Amino acid sequence: MARKNDLLEAAKKAMKNSRSPFSRLKVGVALKTAEGRVYTGTNIETTSIGLTICAERVALFSAIARGEKKFKEIVIVSSAAEPIPPCGACRQVLWELCGDIKVSTHNLRGAKREFTLSELLPFPFEKF
Ligand code: THU
Repeated sequence: MARKNDLLEAAKKAMKNSRSPFSRLKVGVALKTAEGRVYTGTNIETTSIGLTICAERVALFSAIARGEKKFKEIVIVSSAAEPIPPCGACRQVLWELCGDIKVSTHNLRGAKREFTLSELLPFPFEKF
């Protein structure tokens, strides 16, 4: 069962693979399933800048591709000075595929902020 620190370490390891030549912001994510399995992701930018994919969706989509359905927690780390929250697009996708999971976000100097996804996305677009 992955513990808090293991998740942060996994996110930091993923962050090392960030491909971010345009923004120069490196982001790493570790997503924990209900059973304790961990999927990681990092942000990937290409010359067609609008096709960038955030670390959160890389981790989540690789988990979904492996058949995962239930998630508990996501840990985000980045090279920014302050802990960054997930972007609006990722909040929406996380809500739809993970529900109200725990979200923690860290910088590399030990600062962190913790939320629930419903705090970050209080009025989500849902199935109609
Ligand atoms: N980014 C993420 O990976 N996650 C977020 O939640 C915010 C932004 C990435 C996308 C892009 O590569 C860089 O950070 C700057 O926006």
